[in-house]
Amino acid sequence: AGQLLVLCAQFDTLGLNLIQPFRISFFLLLVAFPCRADDINNSEIFAKRGACVTLNITFSASGSFSPDILEARRKLMKEICAKYKSSISRTITHHHVKHLYVEDKYKLLYCQVPKAGCSNWKRTLMVLAGQAPNAQSIKHDTVHYGHHLKTLDSFDRQGIMHRLETYTKVLFVREPLERIVSAYRDKFENPNNYYHSLFGKPIISKYRVNPSWAALKTGSGVTFKEFVQYLLDVHRPVGMDIHWEQVNQLCNPCLIDYDFIGKFENMDEESSFVLRLTGAPPNITLPSFKDRNPSDTRTSMQVTQKYFSQVSMLERQRVYDFYYMDYLMFNYSKPFKDLY
Ligand SMILES: *[C@@H]1O[C@H](CO)[C@@H](O)[C@H](O)[C@H]1NC(C)=O
Ligand SMILES: *[C@@H]1O[C@H](CO)[C@@H](O)[C@H](O)[C@H]1NC(C)=O
Ligand SMILES: *[C@@H]1O[C@H](CO)[C@@H](O)[C@H](O)[C@H]1NC(C)=O
Ligand SMILES: *[C@@H]1O[C@H](CO)[C@@H](O)[C@H](O)[C@H]1NC(C)=O
Repeated sequence: AGQLLVLCAQFDTLGLNLIQPFRISFFLLLVAFPCRADDINNSEIFAKRGACVTLNITFSASGSFSPDILEARRKLMKEICAKYKSSISRTITHHHVKHLYVEDKYKLLYCQVPKAGCSNWKRTLMVLAGQAPNAQSIKHDTVHYGHHLKTLDSFDRQGIMHRLETYTKVLFVREPLERIVSAYRDKFENPNNYYHSLFGKPIISKYRVNPSWAALKTGSGVTFKEFVQYLLDVHRPVGMDIHWEQVNQLCNPCLIDYDFIGKFENMDEESSFVLRLTGAPPNITLPSFKDRNPSDTRTSMQVTQKYFSQVSMLERQRVYDFYYMDYLMFNYSKPFKDLY
């Protein structure tokens, strides 16, 4: 069901910063009052109240998403950050913004979280930037290896700070265990020379008892249990990777004040909300491609539980502990009842 929201507010007396569309809409919701669409053309209203803002937001029929939910997510993030990360450095460096993709036309910063709709977001940013007529025409390799999109760390300090202060900053997250099962399936269950060679070989050689010569040579066939052993090892034989790195490490939400914290689980509705708010043309929507291994079933919670049945209860607990900050910050509930 489509719904037209018209919000009116007195801009001049509120002294709003017009550069950040998302902030405005938020603030307006607190102080605004709904008015009829035809009020927009009513000069009396303009004169009295300064201005009106029209947000034509289409909620999907089943949708329950609202700006209140978004504000609650941001509030929770601030609380968790104040509680756990208050002592960390407050200075933003190039390192902190290296996963933020920049779209200058619609003033959008999108933090890349692999396995949480990232390829489709990159496609959409390319369409917004006018680099492609539509998302369908962009091939998978172009998305990932084309270097069409700039990351925020490629700008100088002033360019970084200016964009952080004035652009809409967007982050999409996913249930943490579901995300790493999705990453494992993508990188280790499918042919992938890079990951098998770089991660598979050291993982098999460290955690497998009596590995075959072929397994050591190719790095193929890493089991989920071996992957979990690697993840939990304080002396990992090879470093972390963005596909399984914690989102709070990738996107630094305690340093960067994201305007929009979206959920992969509700991507259609929430991505469309963000795109409408940044003023993107109505015919631009986030595609829902699953392009790397299109024949694989999507990693659901049921699939996730099946994978975690292959590891011990203690390992499962420790993986949960490993992603605990993401669970807290993004308000995901315990994926298994027996976790503590
Ligand atoms: C409202 O104003 C816009 C432009 O200011 C105009 O194009 C539109 O026709 C008007 N609508 C009505 C219902 O008067
Ligand atoms: C609101 O958006 C929907 C879908 O994008 C469109 O069909 C509709 O005409 C819009 N309504 C107004 C009043 O702009
Ligand atoms: C956290 O999630 C619970 C249940 O899923 C929900 O009721 C609550 O409103 C959420 N809180 C925030 C701050 O998003
Ligand atoms: C959206 O509409 C514009 C104007 O009608 C058109 O030029 C553009 O190609 C469309 N974009 C997509 C992604 O369909």
